[in-house]
Amino acid sequence: MQHLESPHDHAKPDCHGCALVGRRDFLRDAALAVAGVLVALGAAPSLAAAAPLEFVSPLGGGRDEKRYAIPPADAVQIDKENGVILARWQSRVYLFSLACPHQNTALRWSDSEKQFVCPKHHSRFGGDGSYVPDSGRATRDMDRFDIHRDGNDVVGNLDKMYAEHEDAGWSTAFVAL
Ligand code: FES
Repeated sequence: MQHLESPHDHAKPDCHGCALVGRRDFLRDAALAVAGVLVALGAAPSLAAAAPLEFVSPLGGGRDEKRYAIPPADAVQIDKENGVILARWQSRVYLFSLACPHQNTALRWSDSEKQFVCPKHHSRFGGDGSYVPDSGRATRDMDRFDIHRDGNDVVGNLDKMYAEHEDAGWSTAFVAL
């Protein structure tokens, strides 16, 4: 299994006091790692045929606000550039962080199992981002970005990411359809 950590993770073993990797840089690295794994596994053609997973870009938005079209049916879409998972799942739309809530490994989507899977420690999450108990090492549901509806689109604020255990907006960070 290919290692999906950010290359920044091991850049300088004794680097006390180094600048932390910015969230955007990390998310970009994580997203690129996902793409790399798909290629490395040689799975792109079959996976693409089997999974309604799409790679998307925002329709627009500012530096932190990103706009996405609401998928017409349940679907999982990944915005690699911004490290965002757009998921329509059972009448709700979420913008999840692509990063696993355990150690930030880029998550993948298994369409056959209808679950997100972390390739590092094998945590699993439902289509609504809920942690599957006793899987892997995660201890909480997937992190969510702030989101609101605007017509047929959703708009996410990528500067506001919520974790379940902190619940500063996490529990209401979805759009009900
Ligand atoms: S990094 Fe995902 S379970 Fe550890």
